Amino acid sequence: METLKRKNAELVALLDVSMILNSSFDLENNLLNAMKTLSDQLDMQRGTVTLFDRKTGELRIAVAYGLTKEQIARGKYRIGEGIVGRVVETGSPMVIPDLGKEPLFLNRTGARIEKDNISFLCVPIVIKDEILGVLSVDRIFGEMVSVEEDLRVLQIIATLIGQAIKIHNAYESERQKKEELKSELRNRYSLPNVISVSNKMQDVIKTCLKVAKSKANVLLRGESGTGKELIAKALHYESDRSNMPFVALNCAALPETLLEAELFGYEKGAFTGAAGTKPGRFELANKGTIFLDEIGDISPSIQAKLLRVLQEYTFERLGGTKSIRVDVRVVAATNRNLEDMVKQGKFREDLYWRLNVVPIFIPPLRERIEDIPPLIDFFIKRFNKEYAKEIIISPDALKHLIEYSWPGNVRELENTIERLVVLNESGIIKVNELPSYIKDRIVIKNHNSEDSLIAERERLEKERIIEALKKCNFNRSKAARALGITQRQIGYKIQKYGIMLNSL
Ligand SMILES: Nc1ncnc2c1ncn2[C@@H]1O[C@H](COP(=O)(O)OP(=O)(O)OP(=O)(O)O)[C@@H](O)[C@H]1O
Ligand SMILES: [Mg+2]
Repeated sequence: METLKRKNAELVALLDVSMILNSSFDLENNLLNAMKTLSDQLDMQRGTVTLFDRKTGELRIAVAYGLTKEQIARGKYRIGEGIVGRVVETGSPMVIPDLGKEPLFLNRTGARIEKDNISFLCVPIVIKDEILGVLSVDRIFGEMVSVEEDLRVLQIIATLIGQAIKIHNAYESERQKKEELKSELRNRYSLPNVISVSNKMQDVIKTCLKVAKSKANVLLRGESGTGKELIAKALHYESDRSNMPFVALNCAALPETLLEAELFGYEKGAFTGAAGTKPGRFELANKGTIFLDEIGDISPSIQAKLLRVLQEYTFERLGGTKSIRVDVRVVAATNRNLEDMVKQGKFREDLYWRLNVVPIFIPPLRERIEDIPPLIDFFIKRFNKEYAKEIIISPDALKHLIEYSWPGNVRELENTIERLVVLNESGIIKVNELPSYIKDRIVIKNHNSEDSLIAERERLEKERIIEALKKCNFNRSKAARALGITQRQIGYKIQKYGIMLNSL
């Protein structure tokens, strides 16, 4: 009868433990509740899970039911040390029938003041030959249950715990990877990573900081490659929405019907080929930011639909009837002259005002030359890291890059630097490695500067000769000696520079 009752209790406990271990993502809490079940239902006291930390090589109590925080903190072992350490080392369970008589028992936690009449059971937590830790419990002896029976139950529970730990670890490392990716994105696109030394870019940054936290729609203007998308991302990652999605869509890249489907999504059967339901970018960007690039390129019908979203923040999927409400911050960009388009009736004025709540103009690179050297530095560092190189740039090459007009703006500069870093073998980027359209301009420049150098030298020479002649009372041979040249040479120079001895 007793054994039947016990068997029943074991089954119930096992069922409970397996449910508890899957009840939440909080592993520690789940383990603690499992240990409580062992205590309540099977009279296994001070249930403890000790985990092996691969990095430190240490065993550390993860949870212990009925131990204080201080006692838990003391529960650290090395492999092979104490009973817990032995079990990890050997991978086999251990039973200490009477703790009072066992010299191996360290009582490191100090939890057992009264060691007599307690037996100690310890089983490894193993998953596929890997020992994750141990599960141990105290049993007051004198009860009718056999040690073998207890060990069997404990081993099943240890397996359940092992699985829970594996799932938890996988989940944790996945979560960590996601976090790292997120923080990398946040880092890369945060305002401090927008190079802005020039006053003009400083103004851009100031405006961004002012409006990032608000929900005000922003319209970014600027030539191709000036950094419109970068600023759009920075606005997002500097806002309270930074944990929510940033969704970008290039409005010029898609024909009208596809663009509409992309923006608002569609229901099954909305058009030929719409085999399933698909949420649009506005839905995907909910609570976050949507970046509408090349906004100047959208058709009148999309303009009308967009206006409605900006006014009411509701829309329907294509072929759908249900109104969908979203909370989205809209950042749009264009390098077209929207004002002209409004005048010509090509762009709705009401939409223009909705989008243009905060206009930000990003100046072309040639109008902010001060940004070029720090940008070059920034890109060289980035590509050095990316390609595992340690390349520097020569002052001459740098000079040429600063003097180039960069019609493709920062993007062109970025691509140029990437190419230079990738192709470089000597470790130093020199002038002759620069593309000819950059280098050639320099050759002409060099010519100019060489010309002016010669002119400068001649001017100085003439001055010195006149000076020497005056000092030497216009005695040619004395003046020549003073200058360290021959009489013939000074005669030649006087003639060359047209020095009129009489008029000096
Ligand atoms: N101030 C800056 N600091 C650092 N990187 C920048 C800066 N401005 C632009 N970049 C980089 O230059 C490249 C081009 O920028 P971006 O794509 O934002 O330009 P864009 O204005 O959207 O261009 P397009 O009109 O061609 O789409 C990107 O790789 C971006 O990271
Ligand atoms: Mg862009």
